[in-house]
Amino acid sequence: MSDLSQLFPTAAQVAAEFAVPDYLAQRHYLVGGELRQWQGELAPVISPVQLRDEQSGELAAVTLGATPLMDSAAALQALDAAVAAYDLGRGHWPTLPVLERIRHVEAFLQAMSAKREQVVRLLMWEIGKNATDAAKEFDRTCDYIRDTIKALKQQDRADSHFIEEQQVLGKIRRVPLGVALCMGPFNYPLNETFTTLIPALMMGNTVVFKPAKYGVLLIEPLLQAFRDCFPPGVINVIYGRGRETVGALMETGKVDVLAFIGTNKGASDLKRLHPKPHRLKAVLGLDAKNPAIVLPCADVAASAKEIIAGALAFNGQRCTALKIIFVPRSKAAEMLPLLAAHIDALKLAMPWQPGAQITPLPEPGKTEAMAALIADAKAHGAEVVNAGGGSYAGSLMKPALLYPVTPQMRLYQQEQFGPLVPVVPYDDVSEVIDYVIHSDFGQQLSIFGTDGAAIGPLVDIFANQVGRINLNSQCQRSPDSFPFTGRKDSAEGTLSVQDALHQFSIPTLVAAKGSEAGIALVRGMVQARHSAFLATDFLF
Ligand code: G3H
Repeated sequence: MSDLSQLFPTAAQVAAEFAVPDYLAQRHYLVGGELRQWQGELAPVISPVQLRDEQSGELAAVTLGATPLMDSAAALQALDAAVAAYDLGRGHWPTLPVLERIRHVEAFLQAMSAKREQVVRLLMWEIGKNATDAAKEFDRTCDYIRDTIKALKQQDRADSHFIEEQQVLGKIRRVPLGVALCMGPFNYPLNETFTTLIPALMMGNTVVFKPAKYGVLLIEPLLQAFRDCFPPGVINVIYGRGRETVGALMETGKVDVLAFIGTNKGASDLKRLHPKPHRLKAVLGLDAKNPAIVLPCADVAASAKEIIAGALAFNGQRCTALKIIFVPRSKAAEMLPLLAAHIDALKLAMPWQPGAQITPLPEPGKTEAMAALIADAKAHGAEVVNAGGGSYAGSLMKPALLYPVTPQMRLYQQEQFGPLVPVVPYDDVSEVIDYVIHSDFGQQLSIFGTDGAAIGPLVDIFANQVGRINLNSQCQRSPDSFPFTGRKDSAEGTLSVQDALHQFSIPTLVAAKGSEAGIALVRGMVQARHSAFLATDFLF
C-alpha cells in the first residue's frame, strides 16, 4: 500500500446518500421532561473520517456539530429530576404496573425505529463504523428492546403466583433500586448503552443518561422520543466532561445504580466518589485482553481465519476482540503467513464504501498511540510480519501483525483496543495458563484445537478464570440471551436480556403466616385488588 491518505475521499467523492450529515449545533438536553437550552460552551464533535484536499492532498478534519459542555450545576438538575420522579420509590414510574411501563417502552421503540437512517449515518460519521455494522448495531438494539419486553413479561408471569414454604405464604416480586446513572462506550454508543438503559427503565428505576465520548450526536435524534414517550424526569440526558458532570452526581450519594461501560480505572474513580459505597450497586463492563490459544492440534487454516475476524472486526475496537494470540512455537511458521494473508485481504475504506472492514479510528491520536506500541514491541525484538502493517495516514491504520511478542513488551499486557495483532510463541501450554491466571483481566478467551482430550482439561482450568470460553470461535457478546460477564478488572455483574432485568432490581417479598387467618387476609386483598404487588394477573 503506497499512501493510505489516498483512501480518504475528497468532499466531491462522498456519495450524496452518505454525505456529511448537516452540521448540528446541539444546545438542547433533556431534564424533567423538557428539552432545555444550554447557553454555555459547546464541545465540537469531530469525525474520524477526514476529507482530502484535491489540490494539496492534505487531510482535513470534518466537524459534525457540537454538544453542550454542561457544568456540574446543570448535571445536578438532571439528577434532581430523576430523584423527584423516583420520589423515594413512591413516584408514578416506580409504582406503575409493569404492563404500563412496557407500553411506554413500546412507544419509544416505535419512535426510535423512525430515526434509523439518521442514527446509522451518524454511527458511520461519528465513530467510523462501517455501513453494515452500523445498521446491525441499530437493529440489534431494537431486537434487544423487544426481547427485554418479552423477558419482563415472562418474569412478571412467573412472579405472579404465591408460594408456600414451611407454613409461610409468600409472594416475591422484583422491584426497582432507585436512580440509575447510565454511561456507554464509544464503540457501541447505541447498543451497549441501551442494554443497561432500557432494563433500568423497565424495572421502574429513573435514569440519568450520559452518552459516550464519541458517538454522542447520534443520541440527539432520540431526545424527542425520550421526552415524548416517558413521564417527566424518568429519563434525563446530560452532556459534558465526565469529571465535571458525573463526578458531581456521584458525590451527592443520590445515585443508586452506576451502569458504566469503560475502563476499570474510570469505574473505580466514580465509585470512590459515592459517600456511601455500600448503597451503590454497580453494573460494569470494563477492560479486557482476551487471548486466542492455538493448540498443537488446531486446524491452522480455519483458526487463522477466525482469529483475524475476532481480532480486527471494527478495527479491533471491541471489548471482546481477541487481543493476544498464543501459538505453539512449532506452528508459528505455518500460522503467521496465513494470519498475514487474512489481514492483507481486509479492505481499508471509508465506512460507507461497500465491503469496508478497516476504517478510520475515532479517538484523537489513536494511530500515533498504536504506532508507539509497535515501536515498543520492535525495540524489544518483535517484527511486523505483514507488509505495510502499522503504516498510517491521519486516522486510518493498516493492521499490524507482530511476532514474536514477549512479556517485556507493553502489548503483552496492555489492551490495545485497535488494529494490532500480537502473536506470542509458547513451548508448553503451562505458559499460557500462567498468563491467563495472572492476568488482571478475565472476560473471555478462545481455544483453537481439535483434540477433545487436550481441550477438556483447559476448559476446566479456565472456567474459573474468565466469563466465557469459546471453542474454535472468536470471543463475542452475542447471543444477547447468553450471560455476558467477566472477572477481575473486566466486569462487575452479568448482563443478558434476562440478567439485566435482575441487575436493575431487587427481589422483595410479602410473607404471611400460612394459617387460616393469614390466608384469608391475603386472599381478601387479592380478590378485592387492594394491592398491585399482590395481584396474580397473567400478563398478556
Ligand atoms: O465492546 C464490547 C461489546 O459488548 C462486544 O460485543 O462481541 O457483540 O461485538 P460483540
